[in-house]
Amino acid sequence: MRNDLDVLRQNEHRAAMSAGRLTQPNTARRRMIEIFLGGGLIASFMSFLYPVLRYLIPPPVADLGAEEIVAAKLTELKPNSGKIFRFGNRPGLLVMNADGTYRALSATCTHLGCTVQYRSDLRQIWCACHNGIYDLNGRNVSGPPPRPLEVFDVHSRGDEIVVSRKREA
Ligand code: FES
Repeated sequence: MRNDLDVLRQNEHRAAMSAGRLTQPNTARRRMIEIFLGGGLIASFMSFLYPVLRYLIPPPVADLGAEEIVAAKLTELKPNSGKIFRFGNRPGLLVMNADGTYRALSATCTHLGCTVQYRSDLRQIWCACHNGIYDLNGRNVSGPPPRPLEVFDVHSRGDEIVVSRKREA
């Protein structure tokens, strides 16, 4: 009995197929599945490719164009101490000397670009990467750094310490 029903269904299906009634819906369904699968594959590929491209081709680092920036509050530093601040897209180093005066310099080592720091024990600027040393005027005095650090102007405005690029005369 069951076999008869199966045979009957198969015959109906074949008749429908030969009459062309089942061909159109199956083709449309297959096409939709292909579109969904294709779209999914493309989306998966792009989700993999996008971060790789962003890594290989980083966006241009915009020079934030800082000509002047508030580096610290007047009460923030103690004598014979330093502070790293952000100056445009580069680090800067603000140093309060033992006599209470300030110096501000680029904190990017001229050797291979590490960030330098103020060493209160040496009273000098030190690069930990290859033991490069600069004096407080930014001059490279020891180690591999080939050039001095850029020196910035420092002045106070209200309770803030403002650092600016030196103007070319
Ligand atoms: S990167 Fe500073 S000494 Fe080499």
